[in-house]
Amino acid sequence: MANYREAYTRSITDPDGFWRDAASAIDWERSPDKILDDTEAPIFRWFSDGTLNTCWNALDRHVETRGDQPALIYDSPVTTVVRSYTYREMRDQVALFAGALRRIGVEAGDRVVIYMAMVPEAVVAMLACARIGAVHSVVFGGFGARELAARIDDARPKVIVASSGGIEAGRIVAYQSMLDAACDEATHVAERRIILQRPQAPFDLRDGDLTWEDALDGAEPAGCVPVRATDPLYILYTSGTTGRPKGVVRDNGGHAVALRWSMENIFGVRPGDVFWAASDVGWVVGHSYIVYAPLLTGATTILYEGKPVATPDAGAFWRVAEQHRVSVLFTAPTAIRAIRREDPDGRLTAGRDLSDLRLLFLAGERLDPPTYTWAGDLLGIPVIDNWWQTETGWPIAASPRGIEELPTRPGSPSVPMPGYRVRVVDSTGADVPAGQEGSIVIGLPLPPGCLPTLWGDDERFVRSYLSTFQGNYLTGDGGRFDDDGYLYVLGRTDDVINVAGHRLSTGSMEEVLSAHPAVAECAVIGVSDPLKGQVPRGLVVAKAGVTVDPAELVAFVRERIGAVAALRRVDVVTALPKTRSGKILRGTMRGIADGRDEAVPSTIENPDVLDALRPVLRRQH
Ligand code: COA
Ligand code: AMP
Repeated sequence: MANYREAYTRSITDPDGFWRDAASAIDWERSPDKILDDTEAPIFRWFSDGTLNTCWNALDRHVETRGDQPALIYDSPVTTVVRSYTYREMRDQVALFAGALRRIGVEAGDRVVIYMAMVPEAVVAMLACARIGAVHSVVFGGFGARELAARIDDARPKVIVASSGGIEAGRIVAYQSMLDAACDEATHVAERRIILQRPQAPFDLRDGDLTWEDALDGAEPAGCVPVRATDPLYILYTSGTTGRPKGVVRDNGGHAVALRWSMENIFGVRPGDVFWAASDVGWVVGHSYIVYAPLLTGATTILYEGKPVATPDAGAFWRVAEQHRVSVLFTAPTAIRAIRREDPDGRLTAGRDLSDLRLLFLAGERLDPPTYTWAGDLLGIPVIDNWWQTETGWPIAASPRGIEELPTRPGSPSVPMPGYRVRVVDSTGADVPAGQEGSIVIGLPLPPGCLPTLWGDDERFVRSYLSTFQGNYLTGDGGRFDDDGYLYVLGRTDDVINVAGHRLSTGSMEEVLSAHPAVAECAVIGVSDPLKGQVPRGLVVAKAGVTVDPAELVAFVRERIGAVAALRRVDVVTALPKTRSGKILRGTMRGIADGRDEAVPSTIENPDVLDALRPVLRRQH
């Protein structure tokens, strides 16, 4: 492909030709004749008459040519283990665990919830599901019982695979109480639980539970089961504006084609390269760029169980990059900000041989220009901001390094990627001129790899994403284009917040706070934070005559949603500012908390309430 402009134009004018070519990088059991299937528009399908197996494409097909190459390197500073798995070893372990799943009744189409720390077995479990056509749903280890229960009830898994715990910097997180509470709270009952016992967090098995070893004992390796391209590979729940998470569905065919294409053309990663996405398998970055894309490409992926700082210090990323000869690193801006805060002059890169590192990709939240500049100056390599979402599964906007070395601009994730008809529109859905802000939408159809629907709920999919602007997918982000077609993403236009690159819902935190017996009313807002981008803050009105300790409310949210909610400050106030129609003025409160001079809205019911709140909101969180 000669250059970005040509590639992009072709993807829009000849999508069938563009994606048919991209599909040739995948092994199909039955090659697709149909490329874009619009028979059920606005729900579009890709490669609908093709069949394939994603695990075959990620592992088995590489065994002949690169069987002894590391597929995955597990680097765990929190347990001091570093272990490499070749493509052959990975294939064998996955086949055996797939056989173990099948022996306990897991069939194609059954769901398996995976609630595990960053251990190789998590990747093995995901790929084992893919191997037999089962649908995995990974739940991030930082989520607590309520979030886990909601996912169990929606996905209705036959089996839950969990590790007994995770290890945070200086703290063991035992999963037992959260998993047991979630299983008790959920209406749906999984038939079996398989527990990977970790010595740091022993787990008391319930009747019927199997350990990982029990499950493997005597199991026969399972082969790859061909599935339809449109069959679901996984469900990944993500925060929406309500407390009920959205089950983003990923299909097999479009996903494999798009991720394989993105790895080489956007990330510039070729077979045999070492690629490291420093994220977690519980997030979309982990699904796409720790597990599937590097393995579909025949690259080596790094599974890092540690943090950018404190495991043991802010030099950890440079140690890993040097030790495993990483070519391309992908992480969140927060991780770089955390490193910079501890090591502002980048002294911990001194003496490290980072000569293999050629690109740094950052995504998951807005990349602020100072962080972009600091990282580029320190490493002397291009820093590529890329913008996307759980829903899309791969970058909507980036600088496609495998196609052309487009110059990057601070504050912009560059340009739309092939297949994405990105538009910035006003409230009527009309395109706004360059330089003007609006809602960012994507003209349908979305390219392969993006969600075809929400799990079991086409109606919610259409309502949430496709009904605001007919014929367009609503990203939920606001932004603008500049005169040269570079996109600037300015933040969410809804109640989703981004805390340390983690997507959270203020609505979900409000639901939990409201359920506390002492709480009459509450609001949760996302306020700016120099390290994490945003953090949530709670404002609560107690029931008449009831006193409540804010610390108890903080603990309540942490227990229900999980530590990752990172709600550290709740203020008990006498009233919340509202419009005359009763809508809480969250945006105005957020502005005041961020130090802006917010005008008092003309629709306000009682301006005194807002005035009384100003000093509270201005307090540091
Ligand atoms: N399991 C259990 N708990 C977890 C967890 C997990 N997988 N991940 C985070 N938590 C906990 C943390 O230990 C912390 O607990 P604490 O309140 O007891 O300190 C809490 O959730 C909040 O976590 P976080 O917001 O991540 O803050 P932190 O202070 O622990 O770490 C950073 C700050 C910047 C080091 C960390 O957020 C980071 O590495 N960010 C990179 C983001 C990233 O990779 N995002 C993925 C998308 S690309
Ligand atoms: P998630 O679904 O967890 O990947 O979060 C997606 C959201 O994160 C997007 O809707 C954006 O609000 C934000 N986001 C991700 N990447 C970027 C980026 N490069 N620049 C600005 N915001 C981003």
